[in-house]
Amino acid sequence: MATLSDNLAPEETLDLGPGDPTGPRRPVLSLHDVRISDQAGGREIVHGVSFTLTPGRVVGIVGESGSGKTLTCRAALGILPAHFEVTGGSIEIRGTDIADLSPAQWTALRGTTISAVFQDPASYLNPSLRVGAQIAEVVRVKKKLPRRAARRRAVDLLRAVHLREPELVYGQYPHELSGGMLQRVLIAAAIAADPHILIADEATTALDVTVQAEILDLLADLREQAGLALVVVSHDLAVVAQLCDEVLVMQQGEVVEQGPAERVLHDPRHDYTRLLIAEHEQYGLEKFLDPKEET
Ligand SMILES: Nc1ncnc2c1ncn2[C@@H]1O[C@H](COP(=O)(O)OP(=O)(O)O)[C@@H](O)[C@H]1O
Ligand SMILES: [Mg+2]
Repeated sequence: MATLSDNLAPEETLDLGPGDPTGPRRPVLSLHDVRISDQAGGREIVHGVSFTLTPGRVVGIVGESGSGKTLTCRAALGILPAHFEVTGGSIEIRGTDIADLSPAQWTALRGTTISAVFQDPASYLNPSLRVGAQIAEVVRVKKKLPRRAARRRAVDLLRAVHLREPELVYGQYPHELSGGMLQRVLIAAAIAADPHILIADEATTALDVTVQAEILDLLADLREQAGLALVVVSHDLAVVAQLCDEVLVMQQGEVVEQGPAERVLHDPRHDYTRLLIAEHEQYGLEKFLDPKEET
């Protein structure tokens, strides 16, 4: 399957975004009434999720633990856990129904079209390989760059995710880096092949507040500079308030409220959303509610 990144010249300097010659409004990811079931337990776990994501836009999914946020993301990535299946609705990536994709087509899409960052970055890295080499490998395989160019691009990516001394970090092993640095490394790997869509599932949850804020700024930059479309999953409404255009509030596999982030956070209509907002007020949600007015 041809992707936009296939058309990039190998020696091109770091270009974090593919842009979209087919027009900025065209959906890159759409879910229509997606239902996910546990075939082993024979029950539906996610009861209908719908949203449309266009380039440069951010959709947030919030809700309590176990509400189906991660399963929804994994469905969009084609990596549902064993015996979970999409049993209703449909998912389209750039207009293609993912149910029709072959394993080879998935391999071509991952990284170049859709990419993801999860919590616990250390578990996604090989502890015995230098982090830079792991990013360079992604670049070499996905962008088909020769080794030296892949190395240069890996260093550029480490710089792009605001790691100081990227050359030094390139040569370090995962255990030598802090959680925040590892999460940046994972983001660098996730954007290495210029994806159109990045799913960040609780990507900042394990990090302290300062580092979390820096990672959120980084995601906001990628969205603005590269037109990256984001799905941001968090149990933290403040994260969503800062970053998202649209919010879905999930409770027990159900989307109980959905709408523009401003509206949902200022004028919540569902009791569960009100409860989430009340719980977060003590953590200073209000300072995120009008982020544009602050600067
Ligand atoms: N790998 C798995 N095996 C068994 N059950 C799972 C698995 N992943 C998720 N579940 C179940 O599916 C439901 C939704 O999980 P998940 O999507 O991970 O929730 P969230 O990300 O909102 O915390 C939960 O009840 C959880 O127990
Ligand atoms: Mg989850």
